[in-house]
Amino acid sequence: MRLGLATHLLQTNYARAPRTIVISYRGYAEPLKKVKLSTLDNLISRRLHRLTFGMYLWTTTILVAVYVAYEESQNIQRVINAIENGSKELDVVLNDPWLNREKEKSELKAFLLSPTRRYKPKFNLVTGIRGCGKSALAAESVREMADRVIYINFIKGDEEPALVETIARAIDYHPLMAVHHLPLFKMLIYTVRNLVSPPNKSFTDVMNVINLATERMADEDTSDLFRYPLFVIDNVGSLVDDDKNRLLTCLVERSRYARDNNLYSTVLIANDENGTLSKIKAQSGSSRIGILYEVRNVTHQQAESYLKQKFKNTGMLSDTDAEKLVRQYTGGRLQAIHNSIEYLSDGQDVDSIINAGVAFVESRLRGSLSIHDWKRKPDAFAVWSLLKKMHNVNGSCLYEDAYQWILHAKYGSEGEMIEQQEAENITALLEKLVREGVLARIHSNPIRLRFHNRLVKTFVERELQREVVLDMLLVNFNLYENQ
Ligand SMILES: Nc1ncnc2c1ncn2[C@@H]1O[C@H](COP(=O)(O)OP(=O)(O)O)[C@@H](O)[C@H]1O
Ligand SMILES: [Mg+2]
Repeated sequence: MRLGLATHLLQTNYARAPRTIVISYRGYAEPLKKVKLSTLDNLISRRLHRLTFGMYLWTTTILVAVYVAYEESQNIQRVINAIENGSKELDVVLNDPWLNREKEKSELKAFLLSPTRRYKPKFNLVTGIRGCGKSALAAESVREMADRVIYINFIKGDEEPALVETIARAIDYHPLMAVHHLPLFKMLIYTVRNLVSPPNKSFTDVMNVINLATERMADEDTSDLFRYPLFVIDNVGSLVDDDKNRLLTCLVERSRYARDNNLYSTVLIANDENGTLSKIKAQSGSSRIGILYEVRNVTHQQAESYLKQKFKNTGMLSDTDAEKLVRQYTGGRLQAIHNSIEYLSDGQDVDSIINAGVAFVESRLRGSLSIHDWKRKPDAFAVWSLLKKMHNVNGSCLYEDAYQWILHAKYGSEGEMIEQQEAENITALLEKLVREGVLARIHSNPIRLRFHNRLVKTFVERELQREVVLDMLLVNFNLYENQ
């Protein structure tokens, strides 16, 4: 419509363009001079020009409109093709050298496929701590499985239109894609189209497109061996925040609808971190989640040999340093391993990398939690007692035990008689530690807590050493005093 209007305006303006220029002077009513511009000749040629120009504009408009209509009619078919093909073209950036995780990959593939072969698609969940290699494994697996498997990876912090675009790209749905992702010709067409009627990039719209396409696939395919399309949706945690919860609700609802109507199955991938999993479970009702697969960290041995291999023959990382780095800093978390590779390549030495990490943990324990203040602040004292106890049991314990330890540290033997308010304070303290990334919650039954990463363990070890030194000083001091 807008384009039509523009053409119209252009034509009328052109038609009204003065053919006579009137020059008047200082408000004289009578023009001083009239300049006759148009001879019969140029009048004819002008009219001809106007006609051709008008026709040209109209024809272009009509052609574009027809083409856009044709394009729109093709859109769902293109989505179907994209789903049929699956995410074969995923560019997985393989780090070189790539750590061999064939075993995990085949496990994950079997897990991803399990619901699509049966007649009832399910809604399954893959989790693991941030940076353990979920996305890399999933993208690799999906690329190899390809047909009818679509991988969508959300980016944290993206707003709704960007999230919608991510889905649109994965299913090749042009109207909701950013024009620069389209082939050149389509880019022109959609630039014009978007000017005329800007697309509404709503999450519901793009999910509707998936439904439409998969419904058609289910209708058209009558064979007994029908394999349900599978949507692997990564980084679902990006939809967990106050503004975007309705998107998560929408996603979960649609997955459920698709499952109940035998359209497609969904596997969600989410970091196992503060709040994400419980939000997803709350949205879907735990019973709705089919099965859960956990991607684990690599072993320390794998981590070490990976690091050694990376720095082989460079003289930048000795074997003992590699071991120290893994033991005190990275553990088996691939993300941490890659970060430390980056720091090492920047010329930092192992000790300063570890020190910076420990300082970071320390900064998470600020204010009333700062364990250096344990003598003056009851909360800090309780946190320090908790960390020490957890350290004794390998950095992992039942949530309930952690609660009891804090209770005891804060209220001693009177702990049994505490008020409701104080009980809530203890829970709040534990939640704060989880939020600050000191502890992590494990969603087992019953719930457990563990050190958030290796650095927390290293931090506690160093504090313990410091305490021993202080104690010794104190003992010596007392001996001296008593002499
Ligand atoms: N098998 C592997 N070998 C080497 N690097 C890997 C491997 N898997 C993942 N990575 C790297 O580790 C980092 C974290 O992996 P990623 O898949 O993003 O973790 P997650 O999705 O669990 O947060 C990335 O930089 C990734 O390239
Ligand atoms: Mg990821």
